[in-house]
Amino acid sequence: MQKMASPSSLSKAVLTLACVVLLIGGTSAQLSISYYAESCPKLFPTVKSIVQEAIAEEARMGASLLRLFFHDCFVNGCDRSNLLDDTPTFTGEKNAIPNKNSLRGFDVVDKIKSAMEEVCPGIVSCADLLAIISRDSVEILGGPGWDVKLGRRDATTTSQAAANNNLAPPTDNLNALISNFQNHGLCLKDLVAQYGAHTVGQARCINFRARIYNESNIDSSFAHVMQSNCPSVTGNGDNNTDGLDYQSATSFDNTYFLNLMKKRGLLHSDQQLFNGAGYTDSLVRTYAKSQDTFFKDFAAAMINMGDMKPLTGSNGEIRKNCRRVNNY
Ligand code: HEM
Ligand SMILES: *[C@@H]1O[C@H](CO)[C@@H](O)[C@H](O)[C@H]1NC(C)=O
Ligand SMILES: *[C@@H]1O[C@H](CO)[C@@H](O)[C@H](O)[C@H]1NC(C)=O
Repeated sequence: MQKMASPSSLSKAVLTLACVVLLIGGTSAQLSISYYAESCPKLFPTVKSIVQEAIAEEARMGASLLRLFFHDCFVNGCDRSNLLDDTPTFTGEKNAIPNKNSLRGFDVVDKIKSAMEEVCPGIVSCADLLAIISRDSVEILGGPGWDVKLGRRDATTTSQAAANNNLAPPTDNLNALISNFQNHGLCLKDLVAQYGAHTVGQARCINFRARIYNESNIDSSFAHVMQSNCPSVTGNGDNNTDGLDYQSATSFDNTYFLNLMKKRGLLHSDQQLFNGAGYTDSLVRTYAKSQDTFFKDFAAAMINMGDMKPLTGSNGEIRKNCRRVNNY
């Protein structure tokens, strides 16, 4: 048994919360893994082959596609609202602070959607495609698989403010990160397991500059290496990227947690999960010790996230093009 570091009063309160999605206004009961079994039997192989191709071309793309799903689900539920392009009369989520110059993979989603419109036109929603794409990405990068529940429909509108309000910034402290996940009906275990997604992918210097120059809970040799690619003065090299999981950013494994234990978290918010302040420390230790436990909890957390407020029944639509609503 691991000893729990004295949890703050907030994380103590969270500890008592069961790991269940609250489903505020949601109808995830209507989702099912066999939703398209008859209407589109070619769905899974079609998606997977294009995801495979994209990752073979650029390993980072798997991470980018996984992040797209998270940024969709945390803003009004998993309804593909973050794929909508801005138009002269509509401002969507793409240029919200956490997304601008950062979200990527839209072209791959377009390619998959076009392929779907060939094999079963008008059947599969963009929301469901992203749920499958993110599962395939994780598996191809070496992570766990899971059965994806399907039957979501696509949103016909969204707002930039919702994206800014629902996606936590990398400057957040642990209590703010916990509140953010709680507000989305997710529990502490979901937070730590899901944050393990940072085992793959890249962050821009602008998001970790303050940490590598000014924080004390950081391994100094690690900080030094990161500084070589991220100049201290704002405006210089802001777009330079480094791996979120030091030396292992293209394989989905548990080294992210081992790195946190060595104070090698790249973002301020990453290192918050292991800063001696609460229950998350022991979860980080658990996942660092057992990749199997991390994989099991990660898969469960992804399913919980995919259940958030889906549009079903006659709500929303099946978009023909993921970048715009059908009647634009
Ligand atoms: C609420 C806590 C989280 C914060 C504050 C956060 C923040 C960030 C930031 C700042 C970046 C780098 C963006 C850039 O510099 O352009 C990033 C990248 C990434 N995030 Fe998170 N994140 C969080 C949770 C998650 C979750 C839950 C997932 C997935 C389930 C996720 C998946 C990713 C991935 C895969 C990347 C790399 C994307 C790429 O290389 O294109 N993040 N995150
Ligand atoms: C580090 O902190 C100092 C003092 O607050 C500040 O002036 C400086 O801009 C910070 N540097 C970075 C890279 O954040
Ligand atoms: C970073 O890249 C974006 C576009 O990708 C560009 O608009 C911006 O000017 C770049 N910033 C810097 C400091 O180079």
